[in-house]
Amino acid sequence: MVGLATMTASLALLAGLSTTLAACTRDALLASAETYVEAIRTGKTDGLKLNTGNFTYRENNKVVDLGKGVLGSTALTLDANRSTADTVACASYTMLISAGGSKPYVLATQVRHDTGDPSVITMIDVIAATTGSLFFNAKQTLGYINAESWTPLATADQPSRDLLKKVGDAYLDMWTDKNAADTIPWGTQCERVEGSRLTKPCGASLPHGGSAQPNAMRRYVIDEVMGSVDVLCAFNSLGNMPDSHEIRVEGGKVKYVHTITV
Ligand SMILES: *[C@@H]1O[C@H](CO)[C@@H](O)[C@H](O)[C@H]1NC(C)=O
Ligand SMILES: *[C@@H]1O[C@H](CO)[C@@H](O)[C@H](O)[C@H]1NC(C)=O
Repeated sequence: MVGLATMTASLALLAGLSTTLAACTRDALLASAETYVEAIRTGKTDGLKLNTGNFTYRENNKVVDLGKGVLGSTALTLDANRSTADTVACASYTMLISAGGSKPYVLATQVRHDTGDPSVITMIDVIAATTGSLFFNAKQTLGYINAESWTPLATADQPSRDLLKKVGDAYLDMWTDKNAADTIPWGTQCERVEGSRLTKPCGASLPHGGSAQPNAMRRYVIDEVMGSVDVLCAFNSLGNMPDSHEIRVEGGKVKYVHTITV
């Protein structure tokens, strides 16, 4: 009898576990990302399903009270938004551009969820670039970003999670490791948009070490379907700057790099 009860309990636990793990789908993550986009657009956070017991709002690498930063304090007219999803980390990445208002913004945001329940947000982590940020010109950035093509990749063309992580890390290691740049599979048509500065091809002139300070606090959103990795970090190699590096790999080679640095 005890055995049966125990077995039934563990079966229930297993069933519960597999349901919650299966719930962290792309669709659910992208739907949650959409609620974030709406919160930025309206300046209102009521539509966000936050885990009240375990929620952190971080902006430019510092914990900030919700409503005291760019989220929930002002409505922004949005000119571009693009989101990717990491079903393993149960997180999404969203790039937003607001070019037209009195205070333009380019935002890089990672949204993290209760593992297994992508409808409940545990962290919103924003790098918020605005006037005065590195190479900042939202209108120019918008033009470059709108010209890019971010269609989902066919299954056979999707880079592995491992490759995407390695490319993201190698990119951020270039300033401290003289060999890192040579490990990255640069595409001949690769484009880099750094703030509003366009470099093409992007593998032409690269750092080969020189700094003793590794880029730290790395947070990843890896999306094999979009062939992308976004890493938020403290860009310490050139001074302590809140930073986002997003990289897209097509045909096994780096196609786009987009950096947002405060
Ligand atoms: C986000 O971008 C999509 C197109 O990619 C667009 O249809 C949608 O209206 C945008 N959302 C906002 C709030 O601007
Ligand atoms: C709170 O959420 C974070 C993710 O944002 C997670 O790493 C952590 O384990 C959670 N803590 C608790 C107590 O659930």
